[in-house]
Amino acid sequence: MRISVCFTPQDYLRQTFVGGHSAVVIDVLRATTSISAALSNGCQQLIPVATVEEAQAKKKNYPDALLGGERQAMLIPGFDLGNSPFEYSRGVVDGKTIIMTTTNGTLALKTAEEATKVYAGGFVNAAALSDRLSAEGRDVTLLCAGTHGRFSLEDALCAGLIAERLSGQAKLGDTALAVQAMYRDFRDDLAVRVALSSHAAYLVEIGFAADVGYCLQTDVFSVVPEFCDGVITG
Ligand code: MLT
Repeated sequence: MRISVCFTPQDYLRQTFVGGHSAVVIDVLRATTSISAALSNGCQQLIPVATVEEAQAKKKNYPDALLGGERQAMLIPGFDLGNSPFEYSRGVVDGKTIIMTTTNGTLALKTAEEATKVYAGGFVNAAALSDRLSAEGRDVTLLCAGTHGRFSLEDALCAGLIAERLSGQAKLGDTALAVQAMYRDFRDDLAVRVALSSHAAYLVEIGFAADVGYCLQTDVFSVVPEFCDGVITG
């Protein structure tokens, strides 16, 4: 079982995969965290799409679905939900289908959809996800969603936690060794370090400081969201 890391979807598209692999899409702030929150709160399925227009078109096929997501981290006009994990509470999402579009997270999910298995990961479900990956024993690519095609610190640190958890039974490639070292160096004051990241600073600036704290909780959900045939289920 080999572990590697891609720091952006563009980096993932440059890879050549030999044999089957599982792709784990990581968008700590905030898409994959909100996806885990929604499924843990009884959401039936999420449908990730790339554009607002695609979401509105998809709604015609799912008239009872909720529209969720963001642009510039803000609620999209006409949508039911933004991308704050606090909004994906049981009272709102239980039994629901959610059509979701976000800037980086849903793009990364769509980028990886040809992998043998595609999972959504974050700090909130790191233990459950690591257990699933080790049980399957397949090669793993940790795909960081990044921010507008650039490296994102929080995604790389989360990849580091997962690499650390799998290091006992897997061969870590150079990228996995690098994020493992970063995680070991930052883990004792993760919140302070992540607060320095560009997207965390932006979220705090526009009033979503509590979301950053929520997304840095570790192992609070046992769900392992799987993206298959266009939908994400838990
Ligand atoms: C994204 O997908 O770009 C992020 O989840 C944006 C956000 O919600 O802050």
